[in-house]
Amino acid sequence: MAAGKGTRMKSTLPKVLHRLGGRSLLQHVLDAAAGLGDKRTVVIVGHGAEAVTAAVGAAATCVLQQPQLGTGHAVQQAVPALDDANATTLILNGDVPLIRTETAAALAAACGGQRLALLTISLPDPTGYGRIVRDGDMVQGIVEHKDATPAQRGITEVYTGMMAAPTAALKRWVAALKNENAQREYYLTDIVAMAVADGVPVVASPAPDETEVLGVNSPLQLADLERRFQRRQAETLMEAGVRLADPARFDQRGTLACGSDVEIDVNCIFEGRVELGDGARIGANCVIRDARIAAGAVIHPFTHIEGASVGAGALVGPFARLRPGAVLGAEVHIGNFVEVKNSTLADGAKANHLAYLGDATVGERVNYGAGSITANYDGANKHRTVIGADVHVGSNCVLVAPVAIGAGATIGGGSTITKDVAPGSLAVGRGRQAAIADWSRPKKAPKG
Ligand code: UD1
Ligand code: MG
Repeated sequence: MAAGKGTRMKSTLPKVLHRLGGRSLLQHVLDAAAGLGDKRTVVIVGHGAEAVTAAVGAAATCVLQQPQLGTGHAVQQAVPALDDANATTLILNGDVPLIRTETAAALAAACGGQRLALLTISLPDPTGYGRIVRDGDMVQGIVEHKDATPAQRGITEVYTGMMAAPTAALKRWVAALKNENAQREYYLTDIVAMAVADGVPVVASPAPDETEVLGVNSPLQLADLERRFQRRQAETLMEAGVRLADPARFDQRGTLACGSDVEIDVNCIFEGRVELGDGARIGANCVIRDARIAAGAVIHPFTHIEGASVGAGALVGPFARLRPGAVLGAEVHIGNFVEVKNSTLADGAKANHLAYLGDATVGERVNYGAGSITANYDGANKHRTVIGADVHVGSNCVLVAPVAIGAGATIGGGSTITKDVAPGSLAVGRGRQAAIADWSRPKKAPKG
């Protein structure tokens, strides 16, 4: 179910498209469902239907609920897309993102195409939730908070919004729903009393953990679930041996594959697909997206890496920026305020201070001086700079691409290099120093 408005988010984005851990709320639910066996997935869309349908893509069939007249009405729109034969229909909520596949599978198994299975939880403050009404041990029905008597409001066992039902019976039940209640809505929860009347067994299975059944209705709840989700991921990593300086200050918004003895300091953000090799160390406050960091590499604090790969034993940062297409070999050093884009640096190359390398091919052991840049863009096109092995580029040089520096060449500090440089040669491209002896500086006129 993903048709609701999400008024309390106070956002133009449909609620189920808000992101948690780098994926939409709805995607979390679809991913949990993807782990179930033979199935068909139907997403009920309504509010922001176009955007939600586009986000679902080929992952599921979308059915439109317009207008939104309640959860029972929502399921009425979906049932024509479901097969009856011995099947179980599992109903999940697009705004309850942290449900685990195992819990969903257990709920479906509790139904087994025969029983109505409800996922429940006991809450110290059940305000707002549908209460599980029992007669002795037997579930008799669910009463919504707004329709509940004071005595029923005292019940702490609540319906989480997730259930599994025999499909053929579900179709019959939802077709018979009425909206005679406090909210003038078609309540899906009314099918529980129908099941009881039909003699279909109703089983209430308790949720294994509160986090799995918490919904997102407000930015506050979204942030709370984000921290719970990050804690889950942090624990998985730490159980595998990753050393997080503080699991409360760690954010993984995608997949993070770590070798052994990886250390991650506080406030790092990992996005997309990131791999950290054995012994890699990530300093505080780094943002790393879609990157591979090889064994033994050290990323110093405040470094930003995207779409790049860092070789074994390389040192990067602090305050470095690796942009897409940066490929660093083994033992490369990239120091503070160095930006690298679409460039390959072979093993042992160094750019330690305040430099830019864009569209460059840099040979082994090159030393690239402080303040030097590749002028790779002529205003219309990008051009390559090729720097051979063992080249020494002095400080504050401008290498105007396209240009090639032969192996072992030296570029004098402050040079602007516009022509290719032969291997082993020295190239200096700047004004010669002039000397005027006994120079007297201009003096200020006396005041008054
Ligand atoms: C529902 C349950 C309540 C349960 C609570 C758990 C009903 C009648 N009540 O109440 O027993 O304790 O969830 O959170 O089912 N939706 C649609 N179309 C609609 C209405 C809702 O798709 O017309 C979707 C919403 O987007 C949401 C879900 O259904 O994902 C639940 O709707 P919501 O309005 O939050 O139901 P509650 O009143 O909280
Ligand atoms: Mg709700």
